[in-house]
Amino acid sequence: MAGITDGEYCKKFTRGNVDAVTIGGYNIDDRSISAARQIVSTSDRLEFIHEISCISDEITRQVEIIRDYNRSWTGRVFVNVRLSSEKSIKNIYDNHDIDVIEVNCHCRQIPMLNAGCGERLLHDTDKLSRIIEAITKHMDCEISVKIRSNVQGTNTIDLIKKLENHDITYIHVDATKPRVAQADYEMIKKIRQHTTHHIIGNNNIKTRKDYEKMIKYGANSVSIARETLNGNVDKIFI
Ligand SMILES: Cc1cc2nc3c(=O)[nH]c(=O)nc-3n(C[C@H](O)[C@H](O)[C@H](O)COP(=O)(O)O)c2cc1C
Repeated sequence: MAGITDGEYCKKFTRGNVDAVTIGGYNIDDRSISAARQIVSTSDRLEFIHEISCISDEITRQVEIIRDYNRSWTGRVFVNVRLSSEKSIKNIYDNHDIDVIEVNCHCRQIPMLNAGCGERLLHDTDKLSRIIEAITKHMDCEISVKIRSNVQGTNTIDLIKKLENHDITYIHVDATKPRVAQADYEMIKKIRQHTTHHIIGNNNIKTRKDYEKMIKYGANSVSIARETLNGNVDKIFI
């Protein structure tokens, strides 16, 4: 993700040798929507703001844009969601077009944190567990958990161990390290030692060499966000 990553933004990458694209992050409950409203009113950030009753249909519409653009693409569409409670999952229960729900434990804008969303879930791992359980019970898609590493007051490895108890498929790691302009590859290596889940390594991947390094340190696959703004990802996903 890098801003408004909707179907229109993502569809072109299906011709660029990628196995998955991520749309969102969708704000899927009152609290995250209200936080998103605050963010757009006080910054130049763009946010997905929809009536709750329309969110599921809107997600389907965006997935269809991607599928219609490239019918021969067999990759997965991840849908990154921001939510404050396991109860909020009911707003998208009926959606069967999502390949992978990605629980956003990553966003750190103050209104999102105050709403109990995004990175706040790294501090409330019991709530994160309840959210994962609700998705597992009520939906038929795969689950990804998007985290940020090295967040003050959290222990990434303890979280990874806890996620081993859940029926998720992917751990998507923004392997950021404060004040360092490259991914924390050592963190990916440590996570590898504590998980059987598929690791998607992320952060500052700009070249094929960065991609290969991420794989060497234990990621199963690699994602890019800001580099997609250049429009061409073929130099990375050869
Ligand atoms: C403008 C912008 C918006 C983002 N929005 C989200 C989001 O909604 N959900 C999320 O999980 N990550 C979000 N991210 C984080 C990216 O997905 C990614 O983890 C981060 O930018 C590091 O990867 P990169 O170095 O390839 O950009 C956003 C990043 C940017 C720059």
